[in-house]
Amino acid sequence: MDRSAVEAVKARISIADIVRRYVDLKPVSGRWMGACPFHQETKPSMSVNDEEGFFYCFGCQASGDVFDFYARINGLEFREALEQLAAEAGVDLGNVPHDPHAAERKARANLFLDMHDEANAWFQRNLTMAAGETARRYLENRGMTPDVIAKFGLGYSPDDWQGLGNFLKGKGRTPEQGVDAGLLSKNEKGNIYDRFRGRLIFPIQNLSGRVIAFGGRIITDGEPKYLNSSDTPIYKKGDHLYGLNLARSTMTRSKRALLTEGYMDVISLHQFGYTDSCGVLGTALTPEQVKRLAGFCSRVDLVFDGDGAGRKAALKSSRMILLQGVACRVVLMPDGEDVDSLLQTKGTEGFEVCLAQAPDGLDFCMSTLRSDYAPREIMAWAKGFLTDLQDPSLRAFYLPRIAGGLGLSEADFRRDAGVSGPPRSGGAPRGQQAGPARTRQGGQSGQGLPAVGKEDKDDRYLLKFPIQYPDYVPALVERGFRRILATQWAGTLWEKLVNAQHGHIVSQLDDQEKSFYIRCREEVRESALTGRELLDEWEHICNKIAFGQQKENRRQLKEALHQAQLSGDRQRIDECFRALEESLRRDDEQH
Ligand code: UTP
Ligand code: MN
Repeated sequence: MDRSAVEAVKARISIADIVRRYVDLKPVSGRWMGACPFHQETKPSMSVNDEEGFFYCFGCQASGDVFDFYARINGLEFREALEQLAAEAGVDLGNVPHDPHAAERKARANLFLDMHDEANAWFQRNLTMAAGETARRYLENRGMTPDVIAKFGLGYSPDDWQGLGNFLKGKGRTPEQGVDAGLLSKNEKGNIYDRFRGRLIFPIQNLSGRVIAFGGRIITDGEPKYLNSSDTPIYKKGDHLYGLNLARSTMTRSKRALLTEGYMDVISLHQFGYTDSCGVLGTALTPEQVKRLAGFCSRVDLVFDGDGAGRKAALKSSRMILLQGVACRVVLMPDGEDVDSLLQTKGTEGFEVCLAQAPDGLDFCMSTLRSDYAPREIMAWAKGFLTDLQDPSLRAFYLPRIAGGLGLSEADFRRDAGVSGPPRSGGAPRGQQAGPARTRQGGQSGQGLPAVGKEDKDDRYLLKFPIQYPDYVPALVERGFRRILATQWAGTLWEKLVNAQHGHIVSQLDDQEKSFYIRCREEVRESALTGRELLDEWEHICNKIAFGQQKENRRQLKEALHQAQLSGDRQRIDECFRALEESLRRDDEQH
């Protein structure tokens, strides 16, 4: 990875500005504090350190730099987070193969975004004008309040083949640009005309609140009932969720997402106070959408029709959510209702009944499988589920539950599903593991992960000092601080501390190092030693170094003594003895 690009992004982007997009930050004694979006809490316990570029939660210990925050909250990989933030910061990622069309593509995307803003304003204006009368009445009949109409920015496209086309022309856009932006359509004869005609318009926003596409519902007779924008450089079907931008702040608090299928369903849910709701937008749920949701919540409640098709969709969707280690529930609507019609006729009480009855997603899958599927299909489903799990550590969680749900003993199920037993049991012979290979999380093979025990504890104590008081690093180098660190991870972290310029270190640390480093930094911000106390601590560390140095000297002397004895070098033996005694005596004096 290109470190300088990472640092360049950090230099241009303030972590507080990024966090503030998702969390209310308040200044508290010289730092930013807010409610941690990564665990459930009522009082703010996440601190954001803008100077040093990291965040830290006192509640759940979540920590990291701006990329970690951005990736986690948006359900992205580090690389994706880096790319998106680099794009925002205008930093060229050096090691990405150079794309000669990057600037051109970016300009095109910006053009399309601008055109969507223009179209959006036009649609919204139409809803307020004479031509929008039918649409306004339609919304009223469906029980939509002016507040929620404004919140979702609903609009209207008049029943006109050239309305938007002409409007965009007035803004200096060519008809071809309108087609490329997905706003206009072109027939075989090459004629260009408005894509959305006589429709109620639902703007679709990305997480930054920019309009990137539209959905349109017919309000008179006609087909199709809903028409969505086609894919464009700024909108890819299946990547976005309708209303997520409006729902995410509630989601990070409720830790739940209500996920439904329809535009109107999302709007009604918000209108009735369920502001953690969003919709899948005319496709089956995709893994990308689940990833996005996973950045904001711990549980997805699927709101589906109670009919056969709805149950089938619920089975597929809950499987996809559970695979990513996110909890889910299945909220089935009464026959012939969707959540919009239910809320509009029976209010929140009607919906609360459904919520209260909603089974857990895995239980729902198990019972649906048992009632609707053949035994061999059920076993295939279970096997496939375990194989497709993203994170192997999730297997331990799901295995007993699935076995139980199918009425099998865990041992039988492991055997029949071809899943090896836990390493300790010694049950399954090596080399006969049919299931997917067990991949270990993080380097458990020794390097990287800190050892546990006294050595590790000592090293943590020692390293804390230079992390908290970096001014002392050069003096520690001079005194040979490195030699008293017993564990490899501490040595590695120390090297990084020595070589890094202050403030530039976080991005060079792995997850373990980073969380330790950030914890130390946070601690010193809370209460830093000063004056006499700081000097005492410094002297204590120096004594430790001296003591460690003596121990090392003695080890070397003993080794030399041993060699001298082997070779029968009497004079050398005497020297070593004397030196050893001297060293022990000095030690006694000190203690
Ligand atoms: P429904 O047909 O259940 O419509 O489609 P709905 O949401 O209840 O809409 P209203 O209440 O009649 O206005 C569910 C969702 O499937 C997508 C839309 O996202 C819709 O909200 N859909 C449906 C389409 O994309 N195209 C269609 O032609 C129909
Ligand atoms: Mn409906």
